[in-house]
Amino acid sequence: MGAPQGVAEAVGCVTPAQCRSVGSAARATMPAVTVEEQKQAAATAAAEVVEDGMIVGLGTGSTVAHLLTALSARRDGLPAVRYVATSPRTAELAARLGLRVEPFAAVDRLDLAIDGADQVAPDGWLVKGGGAAHTREKVVAAAAARFVVVVDAGKPVDRLRAPIPLEVLEFGLDSTLRRLAALGPVRRRDVPPSPDGGVIVDYVGVVGDPAELATRLSGTPGVVEHGLFPSAMVADVVIGTGDGVSWRKVRGAAT
Ligand code: 5RP
Repeated sequence: MGAPQGVAEAVGCVTPAQCRSVGSAARATMPAVTVEEQKQAAATAAAEVVEDGMIVGLGTGSTVAHLLTALSARRDGLPAVRYVATSPRTAELAARLGLRVEPFAAVDRLDLAIDGADQVAPDGWLVKGGGAAHTREKVVAAAAARFVVVVDAGKPVDRLRAPIPLEVLEFGLDSTLRRLAALGPVRRRDVPPSPDGGVIVDYVGVVGDPAELATRLSGTPGVVEHGLFPSAMVADVVIGTGDGVSWRKVRGAAT
């Protein structure tokens, strides 16, 4: 897949300022990079954004697991950083890696949040929730002064498609599912409830305009949260590519 519009192709860059273009001849000599290596490259680059004293929101998923490893490796230089986790999985792994995890209620701000995504549209809209953690992830991303998304090269898409993860209240579930079915087909996901007791469901109908669908989903009583994240929430998207890291600025955050 070519770089999405507005994305600077780069090798070994950590910040947008450091990114430089790579010629096709150089690319041809580079060894194939696995998806896992792409995730690791994106996560490691994003970890460099963390500065000492920050309070940082941590997402959930396999790309975030690489992020935690990269942050753990930087621990000596970041003694005063505190973290808020979006899932018990992330909290446990972060704590095991020696990162200082605080309850969300114990912090008065989030300077930064870093998380993965399932899809990234050219305009910066996201689909999240493949790991069923999108409600807490959205609360954390919305609270952060800067939200940085870390993905492998398979995540940028031409347009967003189903499935769109939903968290739905257990109370009145059948009624809520019937209302949702009026928007399009939905499928209950065979996963445990969220840490907040919500049932995880996937909307598998047509997405069309994500903003319109987001409004309809949010307007359905019983829907706790959906996995459509607006581009206005996203500061940067860091993509691990076959030849390094591409850094895409979605909205004008400081770098
Ligand atoms: C979890 C998420 C994840 O960020 C998303 O599913 C991407 O996961 P991964 O980094 O494993 O590809 O939204 O709810």
